[in-house]
Amino acid sequence: MARRVMVELPHCRYPIVIGAWAISEWSSLVLASGASRAGVFVVADACVAELHRARISQVVEDKELTTIASGETSKSLAEAERIYQALGAARVGRDGVIVAIGGGVVGDLAGFVAGTWMRGIRFLQVPTTLEAAIDAAVGGKTGVNTAHGKNMVGVFHQPIGVIVDLEFLATLPDRDVRAGLAESIKHAAIRDPAFLEWHEANAGAILRRDAATLGELIARNVAIKADVVSRDEREAGLREILNYGHTIGHAIEHLMGYELRHGECVALGMIAENEIAVGRGLLAREGADRIRALIASLGLPTRLPTRLDPAEIWAACQHDKKNRGGAVRMAVLQGIGAATAISDATDAEVSRVIEVVMPLP
Ligand SMILES: NC(=O)c1ccc[n+]([C@@H]2O[C@H](COP(=O)([O-])OP(=O)(O)OC[C@H]3O[C@@H](n4cnc5c(N)ncnc54)[C@H](O)[C@@H]3O)[C@@H](O)[C@H]2O)c1
Ligand SMILES: [Zn+2]
Repeated sequence: MARRVMVELPHCRYPIVIGAWAISEWSSLVLASGASRAGVFVVADACVAELHRARISQVVEDKELTTIASGETSKSLAEAERIYQALGAARVGRDGVIVAIGGGVVGDLAGFVAGTWMRGIRFLQVPTTLEAAIDAAVGGKTGVNTAHGKNMVGVFHQPIGVIVDLEFLATLPDRDVRAGLAESIKHAAIRDPAFLEWHEANAGAILRRDAATLGELIARNVAIKADVVSRDEREAGLREILNYGHTIGHAIEHLMGYELRHGECVALGMIAENEIAVGRGLLAREGADRIRALIASLGLPTRLPTRLDPAEIWAACQHDKKNRGGAVRMAVLQGIGAATAISDATDAEVSRVIEVVMPLP
């Protein structure tokens, strides 16, 4: 039985369907949105298209499939232009719908194209990584990278639905599953103490990829993300808490030359940012220790593989897109289950806390 979570926004609502073979619901979602079945245009990650040919052909039917080379470099204006050309050739009009099958790269890219083609056409997300299923595919942020940084050009564009077919996840390497779990720890830590306990109690089943456990994990994550987004779609306030672990995490990701997975960097970012919260009396030491222990038990790194220069970490934090008026913005925990944004983190504070994730001598 597929699970369903609704995203309710002031101007639209859409379902997230989670289950084995959930892909079979694609046509009913397309028809319910008012799009024409003839206008379906499928964009898929090349690696996923190869691994899941039969599953994807159910959606493509007799139409062309547009594939995107795996990797962050595909999230570019050049790739967006290539998709625009293909949309034009296929005569996809305002009643068309782009179906994005892949991880966050394909979802962000195809979502951006859907949000801008003819000033916005429908878009269906079919995330195939855990990261995309529990985070990227929900919430309507789309975009591409430029030479000036990640996600520099983008639009808010909500999908007509999200289909998480658990069969796709079966081919995901263990390292990518663990990386996705960092976002799950993030959601629990900022919003749901009982869910954090659930991770502690179910770490073994999660890592074994027990189907019922993964289904529950994804459903609880998307419910948290949907709730936060419904209260603050455009990140005017509350949505900022989703950036917990991401200010220092993005700095690490950038300085490590994208050698580490995004989720691995977020895990390290949460550990370091927790020390800021502890230092300010916002989070008890036991809370920080608990999260570090959970990160370790889910097979994520708790230390960097090589030493980084704290001054460079600070400089990278200062370049973060989230900053306003020159101040570094960060979301830190206020106990387990709550978070708040701060904009007065200092160079000295970040240089001190980054030591907790440096390699042991
Ligand atoms: N829009 C948002 O709100 C949001 C939120 C979080 C992350 N993101 C973005 O998401 C991107 C990261 O997403 P990601 O971690 O999914 O990375 P990704 O899309 O690069 O996928 C990771 C790798 O997994 C492979 N892959 C995908 N599905 C697979 C499967 N089922 N089996 C085997 N291999 C598979 C891909 O080919 C790729 O090599 C980043 O660009 C990030 O900025 C966006
Ligand atoms: Zn993230």
